[in-house]
Amino acid sequence: MFSKIKEASKYISENIGSGSPEVGIILGSGLGEFAEKVENKIIIPYGEIPHFHQTTVKGHQGKVVAGTLGGKQVIVFQGRFHRYEGHSMQDVVLPVRVLALLGVKKLILTNAAGGMNSNYTPGELVIITDHINLTGDNPLIGPNIEELGERFPDMSRTYNPELNNTILKSANELNLKIETGVYVGVLGPSYETPAEIRMFSKMGADMVGMSTVAEAIAAHHAGLKVCGISCITNFAAGMGQESLNHDEVKDVANQVKEKFTTLLLQTIKNMDI
Ligand code: HPA
Repeated sequence: MFSKIKEASKYISENIGSGSPEVGIILGSGLGEFAEKVENKIIIPYGEIPHFHQTTVKGHQGKVVAGTLGGKQVIVFQGRFHRYEGHSMQDVVLPVRVLALLGVKKLILTNAAGGMNSNYTPGELVIITDHINLTGDNPLIGPNIEELGERFPDMSRTYNPELNNTILKSANELNLKIETGVYVGVLGPSYETPAEIRMFSKMGADMVGMSTVAEAIAAHHAGLKVCGISCITNFAAGMGQESLNHDEVKDVANQVKEKFTTLLLQTIKNMDI
């Protein structure tokens, strides 16, 4: 596995020119347009990168976009891999591990999520303060890659409080309303049943989605500082809407893209490197 990560990272490093990226960003469903904001862009389609698969989900583009933003060197993954597409957890976290080898120190994960907290409405942005991994899987299963991190990583502060403060401060500067919450990661691809949503709420989760937890685990394992922003695209099953579908998830994500882009930009500007 480690040689796969090294080969992918070598290819990206050779193709993104001289600067070494400081901040990594992984964009979720319908949130891909943020990558257009990157200046001095170098674009690498996933198909060119050794060991990268194509993304199969509509709303996920499958490109690496490297360049500058807010005075920082950034590298954006426009489109992610999900376990429900049939990828192994190791493949799901390949982009994160590649970022670690490229020397990136900070990672912003973004996703679309269903809202369970009754204070949330679709279109809301939420800072992830913690997660519950209900995928029944873990990207660290198998021989530990010692070059990246330890066998039993502590998960007490997976979502970095300083980075969360930077997001909060940036939202305040922009007069944007932002919430905080716990993300429960499930396998999908079926949406949840109302009974599952009632159970997740009782467990202490505020929003639900099919990504992010594996990437956060792998990033934390590899010593990256991680933060995450969820875009609430719908009320979770049984919480007030008749039915759920992916088009609606993409539509709502599309409606908040300006707010989301402005917040990400300001956050990157405000980050200490
Ligand atoms: N459940 C799971 N994943 C999601 C949802 C949801 O309601 N909305 C967006 N991604």
